[in-house]
Amino acid sequence: MEKIHENKVIIITGSSRGIGFSIAKHLSEEGAKIVIIGRNIETAQAAADSLTTDSIAVQCDISSEDDIKNMVSIVLEKYGKIDVLINNAGVFPVKTFSAMTYDDWKSVIDIDLNGTFLATHEVYKVMEKQKAGKIINVASIAGRVGGLGFTHYSAAKGGVIAFTKALAREAARLNIQVNAIAPGVIETDMAKSNFPKYALTEHIKNTPAGRLGHEKDLFGVISFLSSSGSDFIIGQTIAVDGGYTMI
Ligand SMILES: NC(=O)c1ccc[n+]([C@@H]2O[C@H](COP(=O)([O-])OP(=O)(O)OC[C@H]3O[C@@H](n4cnc5c(N)ncnc54)[C@H](OP(=O)(O)O)[C@@H]3O)[C@@H](O)[C@H]2O)c1
Repeated sequence: MEKIHENKVIIITGSSRGIGFSIAKHLSEEGAKIVIIGRNIETAQAAADSLTTDSIAVQCDISSEDDIKNMVSIVLEKYGKIDVLINNAGVFPVKTFSAMTYDDWKSVIDIDLNGTFLATHEVYKVMEKQKAGKIINVASIAGRVGGLGFTHYSAAKGGVIAFTKALAREAARLNIQVNAIAPGVIETDMAKSNFPKYALTEHIKNTPAGRLGHEKDLFGVISFLSSSGSDFIIGQTIAVDGGYTMI
């Protein structure tokens, strides 16, 4: 595989398993040093150890400002720079609106939206000094068209999409490109255990590609948004959903 990200330092939040880990493996195969982030350090460490480049694991809850500050200082001490931040950590518990408590709402907003703010805010300071950087936010089709049982999650991911555009306007002149991706349903263990079978069947019926997404379907767009080939792409949210939304 071509080492197009040789020597880059890429932080991927929520990369101990699922989409984040698959992306980590791919970018590492393309030469990047990866910072694996998760709350469970054993899983995160095992993920980092499995990569072939000089990568590390850092225990960090992205909804904790202290954890984020600590994580960024560890990364700077080890590598001295941050080339790319991929805000991927997220939770998506299904709950109808009438059953939802305010605590349910807050816990999803705290991780999926506030966590994106916290990680970005700390890394942005570094990228401002570097006068270079790329920030990629993992949103969701739910942030664009709404998801059933997902009022909290849709609000959080819609917020991530709007945040991406607003920050991209400020950041572009500092040579920091901010973009997002909006995956459709991707067959991670979490997605398979979260969504009822009938919902997945219905989703496939409404997807022009006629299938669910695989983690590898995200590799191309993530690699591109991490590379200089995307330097003039600013504030976009790119759907990777088999044609489900087309907006
Ligand atoms: N799968 C889909 O169908 C789909 C579709 C669209 C968008 N997405 C988005 O893609 C992202 C990844 O989804 P996934 O399916 O790969 O989920 P997953 O398999 O559950 O993996 C989530 C990862 O995030 C970490 N994490 C969760 N909460 C965290 C926190 N507070 N602080 C730090 N790390 C945290 C988890 O590790 P720990 O538990 O150890 O912290 C894990 O590494 C999410 O943002 C999700 O909303 C997924």
